Amino acid sequence: MKILAISGSGRASSTNTAMLRAVAEIAQPKHEVTVFDGTAGLPVFSPDFEVGPLPVEVQAFVDMIGESHCVIISSPEYVRSIPGGLKNAIDWLVSRDEIVQKPIALMHASHRGEDMLEQLRLVLSTVSQKFAQDLFLRFEFMKLSPEEISDRLAVPTNRAAVADFLRDLTNSTVTAGSE
Ligand SMILES: Cc1cc2nc3c(=O)[nH]c(=O)nc-3n(C[C@H](O)[C@H](O)[C@H](O)COP(=O)(O)O)c2cc1C
Repeated sequence: MKILAISGSGRASSTNTAMLRAVAEIAQPKHEVTVFDGTAGLPVFSPDFEVGPLPVEVQAFVDMIGESHCVIISSPEYVRSIPGGLKNAIDWLVSRDEIVQKPIALMHASHRGEDMLEQLRLVLSTVSQKFAQDLFLRFEFMKLSPEEISDRLAVPTNRAAVADFLRDLTNSTVTAGSE
């Protein structure tokens, strides 16, 4: 099963990105998790840019969505909201087919960020008919290094929580009949 894990953070030592990378390690060989941390590299969306070929970076992002069976998103909160880069990335998908039937679930690497989570849930339930509202996996990794996060996720109880989350997400894909 191919899973695209999108980080809303462009920080090199992002806790959200580090957590998704650790999930990718745990998931294999059962699932192929690809981490996308390039939202900051996408041009700012305008409907005018959808006429004709998409910008190269956007086409590559859209293709990654299209080729995945399901999507995980994990993001920091910026100014009590969704980081601009992540919202912009989602805007590029809105008038396209790739995201509408794609099962999506949230992870989160912090004990904070409720306003962002609420807004992201509203946005994702608008763009995807298969947004899994009830599926959510959260760890308190704020301010930890990528190495510390990898070590924490390797703990058996956390590995089991990740495995359960991936099982529920990919089961929803099977139920959706898109495998
Ligand atoms: C510009 C900026 C704005 C932020 N605004 C908030 C905020 O409104 N609420 C909050 O809880 N944290 C806020 N934070 C903290 C981040 O959400 C938090 O450090 C997060 O864990 C960073 O995720 P990352 O390690 O993946 O980059 C902000 C951080 C930055 C850089």
